[in-house]
Amino acid sequence: MAKAAASVFSCPECGYSSGRWLGRCPGCGEFGTLVEESKFTEGGAPVAAAKPLLRLVEVEAEEADRISTGVPELDRVLGGGLVPASLVLVGGEPGVGKSTLLLMALRAITDSGRRALLVTGEESRAQVKLRADRLGGAGAIEILAETELETVCATLESERPDVCVIDSVQTLYAGELASAPGSVAQVREAAGRLLRVAKDSGVAVFLVGHVTKDGAVAGPRVLEHLVDCVLQFEGDRYRAHRVLRAAKNRFGSTNEIGVFEMTGTGLVGVPDPSELFGRSEAGEVGAAVACALEGTRPILLEIQALVSPTDLAMPRRVATGVDPKRLAMIVAVLGRHARVALGGADVFVNVAGGVRIDEPGADLAIALAIASAARGVPVKDGLAAFGEVGLTGRVRAATQAERRLEECAKLGLSTVLAPKGTPRHGAVALVEAGTAAQALPLGLAEATAERD
Ligand SMILES: Nc1ncnc2c1ncn2[C@@H]1O[C@H](COP(=O)(O)OP(=O)(O)OP(=O)(O)O)[C@@H](O)[C@H]1O
Ligand SMILES: [Mg+2]
Repeated sequence: MAKAAASVFSCPECGYSSGRWLGRCPGCGEFGTLVEESKFTEGGAPVAAAKPLLRLVEVEAEEADRISTGVPELDRVLGGGLVPASLVLVGGEPGVGKSTLLLMALRAITDSGRRALLVTGEESRAQVKLRADRLGGAGAIEILAETELETVCATLESERPDVCVIDSVQTLYAGELASAPGSVAQVREAAGRLLRVAKDSGVAVFLVGHVTKDGAVAGPRVLEHLVDCVLQFEGDRYRAHRVLRAAKNRFGSTNEIGVFEMTGTGLVGVPDPSELFGRSEAGEVGAAVACALEGTRPILLEIQALVSPTDLAMPRRVATGVDPKRLAMIVAVLGRHARVALGGADVFVNVAGGVRIDEPGADLAIALAIASAARGVPVKDGLAAFGEVGLTGRVRAATQAERRLEECAKLGLSTVLAPKGTPRHGAVALVEAGTAAQALPLGLAEATAERD
């Protein structure tokens, strides 16, 4: 006989589930995170009727239907605006500004004559009002302070606003499930039900989700498969800058980023992040400017490196904003192909402004910053670099070189160190390097230059 009403034990951190309780979650390795949840049992087998089919060519859909959120940076990350009836998960650490961003978007949406609803489970109506006042008014935003999933779904179905924000999905509670709000089963159920409501009633829904210690959106990973877009809102705790990026987007590129600055009157979009992050001090050892591409937008970023002698058997390679594997590879290539020996030194690399770069086009600038720090020689004045460094030491061509060169010219950089074969474009002087070894003397200032 099958076990009736069996319990499952799931980990709210990573979504791992097991038939019995375990002290340590095998999924994420955390201790004491598994909690008991009773399985949701459905009634008898439903009787289903067949549905008529439709040819895809007969389906009517218009790209122009996208709803502008009134926040250009958010629109860009969404792929040109919000798609009606879509489900967007916005994740971010506590206090990064998720509620602020979405409240600003809702206000702008109501200003354009659409209906926008804010479902708040975390804050009271008065608290939301105070924030709205600080941000410059509440427009015609409608508000519902509710955590009961059933009520939220019923309200959405009857009111049918154009856009709805659920702040946050972890506070929603389905009465028929025994587990606590925020648990795996509850979050999964809430997202599933809201997805159906969004698709059936044509409401575009933003779900606010909290982030775990490792930066993943809390709750089961299944949430990420369910929704149409996953946006991550990241920020440097000590700075006012915030970066919004798409981890998944069914309607657009995942490479786009939106940059904001947190001010007392709300988040202000930074249309020109290069100006902010791409300035380096002339003559500074261990700093290089990379011209990386984020989606369709080139962005200049200052890369800083520190190389310090160590007695550790395994020297440290610490990367902030750069993939640690990529850093290890660049260090190895520099040692093997460019005679920059780093075996006895710790290497630290940091991208200014708390920005993260995943693009391989930044490799050359990272290599230049490390070599500059290792040799104690600054990078040439007014120089930016781009190009992917391969394992053989060759510098590979990077995509969209023209746009990168335009960005460098715009910021007044005089020279760009680029892969061999890069076509000349605009006013900046182009210096071509075929290998990492060739790039170093071209990018670094003369070793004889006086230093203090
Ligand atoms: N008066 C103010 N001046 C400047 N910044 C402010 C002010 N009030 C709030 N902030 C900023 O707004 C942030 C909080 O924003 P918000 O409540 O939108 O974050 P959140 O991501 O929704 O947080 P939570 O996860 O706790 O809901 C604060 O961390 C702070 O940086
Ligand atoms: Mg909030």
